[in-house]
Amino acid sequence: MKVNKKPVLYISKSSTRLQIIKKERCMSKKFLYVANWKTYFSYTQSLAWLKKNKQQLDSIGQNNELIICPSFIPLQKLSLALNKTNIKLGAQDCAPELTGAYTGQVSAQSLKDVCCSYCIIGHSEQRIHPTTHSLDSMVVHENEIIAQKAQTLISQNISPIICVGECKLEREQKKTQQVIKAQLEPIVALDLKIMPIIAYEPIWAIGTGQTPTNEQISKAIDFIKKSFQSVNTQEEVLVLYGGSITSENSNILKKIENLDGFLIGKASTDIQELEKIVL
Ligand code: PGA
Repeated sequence: MKVNKKPVLYISKSSTRLQIIKKERCMSKKFLYVANWKTYFSYTQSLAWLKKNKQQLDSIGQNNELIICPSFIPLQKLSLALNKTNIKLGAQDCAPELTGAYTGQVSAQSLKDVCCSYCIIGHSEQRIHPTTHSLDSMVVHENEIIAQKAQTLISQNISPIICVGECKLEREQKKTQQVIKAQLEPIVALDLKIMPIIAYEPIWAIGTGQTPTNEQISKAIDFIKKSFQSVNTQEEVLVLYGGSITSENSNILKKIENLDGFLIGKASTDIQELEKIVL
């Protein structure tokens, strides 16, 4: 996956001195957009949505990195429908191992069979204890299972999109970095052949209409990127922001220098909203 990481440089004509100005990244950068449809649509509704909005979606995806993540059942049909487009497909979770006794879960192998290139894992709506203290032993165990899912996905050439972020109490207690560190530790310890994508999703911002300030998001992204400095792959870790993104706040969020993209929930189910966010 290619994301343009290079800031564009240009020379200001109005200046007498030779002035090299970094053009704002939001003007030049190609962001990655991930649509997390959660359980908003049934199987029939997912297909009807795509049929109705296919043309508009195609044109949104033409010059942009767009990934649609429906629930499991529509994946195969959507994969066929999106086959000749630039739009990629992602799932919303997977089993920790390729095969085994995981009742109700879907294997990474099945996701690969239906041409999923991405898979969201560790979403707070999937974590068993999203608001338990980050050092609680159950949470530590869950972070390890999420790392196992990442490794299994990577073995199938599927890019994991791993969600991390603090709950409201942890933010108030200034424990954001401590929480993210605990969530990332087992991931960073893996022998990573594909760099995962990390989505910074503060739990208190999901579906609430609240968002952190650009400075708070940027600080968290910086911390995440530094956590991967020791990982020995060619790629740089991409960090997305997720939580109450709308067409109203996306342009402000696009000003965040170190941001690589967006994980969009509710707003991604409305084609007009999605278009305004991306374009
Ligand atoms: P939201 O969800 O955009 O509806 O807040 C984001 C997410 O949970 O991924």
